[in-house]
Amino acid sequence: MPSASTLPKPPAALPGVPPGRMPRHVAIIMDGNGRWAQKRTWARIRGHRAGVRVVRETTEECARLGIGQLTLYAFSVENWKRPEREVSLLMRLLERYLVWERPTILENNLRFKAIGRLDKLPEGVRRELAETTRLSAANTGTTLCLALNYGGRAEIVDAARRIAEDAKAGRLDPARLDEAAVASYLYQPDMPEPDLLIRTGGEQRISNFLLWQISYAEIHVTPTLWPDFRAADLHAAIRDFASRERRFGGLGA
Ligand code: FPP
Repeated sequence: MPSASTLPKPPAALPGVPPGRMPRHVAIIMDGNGRWAQKRTWARIRGHRAGVRVVRETTEECARLGIGQLTLYAFSVENWKRPEREVSLLMRLLERYLVWERPTILENNLRFKAIGRLDKLPEGVRRELAETTRLSAANTGTTLCLALNYGGRAEIVDAARRIAEDAKAGRLDPARLDEAAVASYLYQPDMPEPDLLIRTGGEQRISNFLLWQISYAEIHVTPTLWPDFRAADLHAAIRDFASRERRFGGLGA
């Protein structure tokens, strides 16, 4: 996993935030779609639909700000426990998103990636994921990464299994295993560590998201429900991040 300092510095696109204080990787737990819909006595799926619009706006704003990567928690390994109808509507929404948003992804020079146990997703979703990933692979702008059927523990288990297989086959010397080597077995080996983790919807939890990668991330929780999250809320989170002193276990400047 490259350290944050190996990534190109984004431009100073947010007034009052010096370029060196901009996050290079923003990860978001998009929570509150269901509550947003229920407050209006609507079906929960309408909240997810409204959430898709916010995915688009947030992605475009991150691209405009020159942020290196945006990772969105779109479906967790635990989300299969939801009613079958909600799960299948979410999957359909995701498949349509991947088709509809493809031109926008390409026009914005975004590189699309997905992480998670993707092989367990419905065939249509896997097909559109593969297509968007392939078409955008040579792009050089912001990386948009969707975490789908994702769990932080599952990711570490999957990495551990592959590490054990490589050691057993003699391709890996266990004595040489270090943090960088472990990171190279994660779903997105070149993922820069998230600098800023945003959670909408007010809950103060990590919910099994990027457990390995967020070791030193700054956490920003906002009560705003995901469908109400706007560019101004993203800016507020970035300004909050920029005001923090990051010591990475040291004593600071
Ligand atoms: C949490 O809200 C949100 C999800 C489980 C799914 C997030 C999905 C989207 C934003 C739309 C689909 C995404 C893409 C990329 C097409 P919740 O339902 O748990 O809300 P609640 O806590 O209010 O019940």
